[in-house]
This record gives sequence, C-alpha cells and structure tokens, in this order.
Amino acid sequence: MAEPSIKRPKGTQDITPKEVNKWQTVEVACKTTAEDYGFSEIRTPTFEDTKLFVRSVGDATDVVQKEMYTVTSKGDSEFTLKPEGTAGVIRAVIENGMLNEAFPQKLFYLTQCFRHEKPQAGRLREFHQFGCEIIGTKSPAADADLIMLAADVLERIGIVETKLNINSIGCPNCRAEYIKALREYFSQYTDTLCETCISRLEKNPMRILDCKSPICSEVAKNAPVILDYLCDECKEHFDALKGILDAMEIEYRVNPRIVRGLDYYTKTVFEFICDNIGAQATVCGGGRYDGLIRELGGADTPALGFAMGIERLLIAAKRGRAEFIDRASCDIYLASIGQDALLKTAQLARSVRDIGFIAEYDIVGRSLNAQMKYANKIKAKFSAVIGDDDIKKGIIKVKNMETGKIDNLRLDDSFAEKFGDILTDYILNDDLDFDCL
Ligand code: HAM
Repeated sequence: MAEPSIKRPKGTQDITPKEVNKWQTVEVACKTTAEDYGFSEIRTPTFEDTKLFVRSVGDATDVVQKEMYTVTSKGDSEFTLKPEGTAGVIRAVIENGMLNEAFPQKLFYLTQCFRHEKPQAGRLREFHQFGCEIIGTKSPAADADLIMLAADVLERIGIVETKLNINSIGCPNCRAEYIKALREYFSQYTDTLCETCISRLEKNPMRILDCKSPICSEVAKNAPVILDYLCDECKEHFDALKGILDAMEIEYRVNPRIVRGLDYYTKTVFEFICDNIGAQATVCGGGRYDGLIRELGGADTPALGFAMGIERLLIAAKRGRAEFIDRASCDIYLASIGQDALLKTAQLARSVRDIGFIAEYDIVGRSLNAQMKYANKIKAKFSAVIGDDDIKKGIIKVKNMETGKIDNLRLDDSFAEKFGDILTDYILNDDLDFDCL
C-alpha cells in the first residue's frame, strides 16, 4: 500500500466508506433512542473560549491541566477545541435564553471532542461523543430516566455485556467534610503515593481514588467512603434513585470509588463499563451537575447528563450482537457505446436518481468490457448497455445481474418509473425468499 507523504496526526482516525456504515448504525441508534425519550438535538461550536472549560471542567482536572488543545487566535483571545460536550451545551442554553423555556429541557448531541491523551485502543486525541443533558429538574426520577436512556441506547446498538456502576458524590456541603477526611487519611501515605497523587492531595484528593497506579489503589482501598458522609438531602436523593432503578429492574452496583474526572458533578455519578473491550472500558459516563449553570452565569438550575464515546461503542458493538446496516449498492449501472449513448445514460441515470434509486454510468471513458467489470465490482443489482441502435429503436435491455433475467424497457420518460417497479419487485421477492429459508 502506498504511503502518503504527510500522514494523519497521532490519535486521530479516518473513517473510510468500508467502516462508515457501522458509524451510521450507532449514530442512528443514539439519535432515535434519544428522540424516543423526548430529547432534541443541539449543535454547538467545535471551539469555545478556553475560560469556559477551565470554569466548568475545573482547573485542577487532567483535562484542563494536560489535555486541552488551545490556540491563541489572531487578537489575543484564547480558544480551546472542545474536550467534552456538556460545557458548550450549557453555555449555549444560557446564551440562547433557553433557561426561560419550559423545563425540563432535554438535549442530545453527536460531536467531535479533542483531548491530548496518550493514544491506545479506545483512547484517541480526536474522538466522538454522543451526549444527553437534562436541564431543570432535581428529581431522582430524572436521574433514573437518564440512566434508562443510556441502557436502552447500549441495548439497541447490541452492546449487552455492560455493567452499570453508580455512586453519589454529594453536594458541596457534605463533600467538604468528606474531602477533609480524605485529605487526613491520604496524608499518612505521602511517602507511598505517586507524584501526581501528592499534587492531588491539596487540590482534589477525590481523584486519588481514581489513580491507576497499583500502589495508590492499594492505599485507596481503606480510604473513607463518600456514602458515609452524605447529608440527609443527598442520601435521600440517592436512595430514591436506587429505588426507581430497582423498580425498573435495571441492574447496578453501588461503587463508592467512582469519582469521575470532571469537577462539575454533584450527587449522582454513574458509568457503564464493558469489560471485554480492553483497558478503556468505560463506554458511558455521566451524572448530575446542579451547580454548573449558576457557575456559568445562568440562574440556579439543576441539571444532569451523560456522554458515550462512539469509538468505544463501536469496539463493544463489534464484540457484541450488533447488526450493522448494509452499505447501499448501485441499483443500476448504465453502460454506453459511443458519445450519443453516453449522453443518454447520463439522462437516464438522472431520472432514476430523481426517484430515489442509485444509478451510475461511465464517467471515466472506459471500454464496454471495462465498464461491465466495474459494474460487477460495485455489485450493481441491474445493468443495461446502450448503443446507437438501441437509441434508434427506443428500447433497451435491463439485466438483473444476479438472476440474468432481462426486461425490455422503453427509452422514454417512463424508463425510471418502470425500472423502479422491476427493482422493487426484485427486492420484495428477494426478501420473501429469504423469509422462507
Ligand atoms: P467523560 O467521562 O470525560 O465525561 O467522557 C464520556 C465518554 O467519552 C467516556 O466514557 C468515553 O466513552 C469517551 N471518551 C472520553 N475520552 C475519550 C478519548 N480520549 N478517546 C475516546 N473516547 C473517550 C464527559 O465528557 C462528560 N461531559 C459526560 C457528561 C455529560 N456528564 C454530564 N453530561
């Protein structure tokens, strides 16, 4: 295979036509499930003012400290390619007056995200998120409905082997007590913890619970647990959520070690893990962020959401029971002999395309033999060869490439419609045969 002189950047992917049908299958499942739950799509810019992410995601997080792609624009404004979808959506909701509309607002997005991480399977520098956000409800019923939506998306894609982990990380009030206890506990291990965790001790000790280093995880095993520190309101909220999940028969595990890597979360946090896809096993992460809208300048409004990494969904889907929609193949290839015939095939192709079928003709200048080879290669369902004689007679032979059956069609305005009938008959009968097997 030839190598281009300039290759794609590390941690990015090309999605070629061979793969794109799998992406479309996943995207359609995400979109239609969200719509079934009453969500509407929102699209926001690819880059935002850097301050938006510093203030929402949090300046002590890995995302802000190490992973953002930031550029200084021509004046002196600093912009960052979005590392996640929530911050931009919330900014857009505030900026477009959507906080004055009926609550809850239920929004979904499919977007590119950018994080400068060490690339590996399921971890890229440019990746894609499907995210859902619910704005304007404190009720645990919303947390449960959101989790149910995520579970349904995974199921509809055909990803069955996932585990749902939930936790509550409390509100700023109860969390303050917990962080104090955590800091006291980890301070006993300053000569054992890794360097990153030592720096986390002051800024964000909850992130130590998430450290992948075996030594830090060992120390973290006996650390205080947030659930023991929840205030009455947070505890009631979490108990109510568990009650609804139980009633809906959604299996979950309470995992007090889930802290999430972004600072805006309050109360509920959750992750769906898929164990058979390697080290990057979290296919979905989310939770409540009741303080974020106020932090970004809007009225005090509770909110919650999740995002799924499409690349990880695809890895999981290929290992699961996913059925990908087929790539559409050419319905008719119109071969031509001579210039007049070429013009005729162009007209016919256009009329077939106008009624929604796929038609191709020779735009390369190939011999008839080469045109037919090409028709076979692209798996055209039907073909027709047009020469000067056929134009004079006003009739052409349309051949079913699978069965060899030939139909004579008039070369006039009725061609596209008549061909449409033959194609529909063929497809329907084909399905019928398939059903009978
Ligand atoms: P997150 O956990 O940072 O949360 O990312 C959500 C999902 O995006 C992850 O579970 C993973 O599937 C995928 N993901 C993250 N980083 C990468 C990467 N480098 N390569 C491939 N996939 C990746 C958020 O982004 C929050 N905004 C979710 C949220 C929405 N919370 C509330 N609303």
